[in-house]
Amino acid sequence: MRQLRGRVAIVTGASRGIGVHIASALAAEGVDLALAARSAQELESVRASIEARGVRCIAVVTDVTDQGQLEELVRRCEAELGPVDLLVNNAGIEKAAAYEELSTEDIDRFIDVNLRAPMHLTRLVLPGFVARNRGHVVNISSIAGLAATAYGESYNATKHGVVGFTRALRASEQVSGSDVSASVICPGFVSDVGMYAGFRADGASRAPVLLGTSSPQTVAKAVIRAIKKDLPEVVVNPGPMKLFLAVSLVFPRFGEWVSSLIGAHDVFSSTAKARGTSRKG
Ligand SMILES: NC(=O)c1ccc[n+]([C@@H]2O[C@H](COP(=O)([O-])OP(=O)(O)OC[C@H]3O[C@@H](n4cnc5c(N)ncnc54)[C@H](OP(=O)(O)O)[C@@H]3O)[C@@H](O)[C@H]2O)c1
Repeated sequence: MRQLRGRVAIVTGASRGIGVHIASALAAEGVDLALAARSAQELESVRASIEARGVRCIAVVTDVTDQGQLEELVRRCEAELGPVDLLVNNAGIEKAAAYEELSTEDIDRFIDVNLRAPMHLTRLVLPGFVARNRGHVVNISSIAGLAATAYGESYNATKHGVVGFTRALRASEQVSGSDVSASVICPGFVSDVGMYAGFRADGASRAPVLLGTSSPQTVAKAVIRAIKKDLPEVVVNPGPMKLFLAVSLVFPRFGEWVSSLIGAHDVFSSTAKARGTSRKG
């Protein structure tokens, strides 16, 4: 979708972190926005700052794990801003922990927020996209959706799921000859705001030099680029991540060896240690 001015977007997880930057980048392109998250006050303050940029913006307090609230989000967006053109599934949760330390409720919550919600919200907007032959879904996954990170079984499983979901969505639209499309964004460690910043604040070690960090603005730019150029997947990372991922696919043991060598898992194991959720014994 080359022209974004005047389009209408839903962005989930817009109360803080990367979602605020994605909303801001879309507003800079002239997109009207429906922002969703649970924290009403934070969401309202983001809404006001976005509206000050000259686009229409509504805040819809939404728990993305609640189907009724997802339906209300789409209904309000369409009633107050018009038909949805863009959906950015950004809301997500993490918890670096030994898998056996998680409760079944913890595991279900990962699936509900990180995977089920993007799938259900996409299902709600897709009929309109297909009817208008226009629409783009952007799913925010992670490099953890393409490679392994220690203490992240549930997070990795859901983020791999998001990648697979997006790939299939694109394939279906391509075989039906539709202009509707989807992209997945896979950031590595993001600086300043969000989950990795939270790890660091809790005492986690720094991201390995070879992996580095990206700014939230870079992730937001990747979202805009993915929509305008209809990119299937964007890996957002300063290092040679794509080469590593390609080689790891052919030689998985080599990938594991390189990950350990460069300390790719240290951020997660040090976070789990700091939070008291590492493997006991
Ligand atoms: N930061 C990184 O280094 C990094 C790297 C790779 C990928 N990512 C991905 O980027 C996305 C954004 O993460 P972030 O780092 O910005 O995290 P964050 O700062 O923790 O923000 C998460 C956002 O998701 C929302 N959210 C969580 N549970 C929700 C629920 N049940 N219903 C509605 N909204 C919910 C939160 O809002 P409320 O709490 O107000 O509901 C918040 O706005 C995630 O999908 C994450 O996996 C992040």
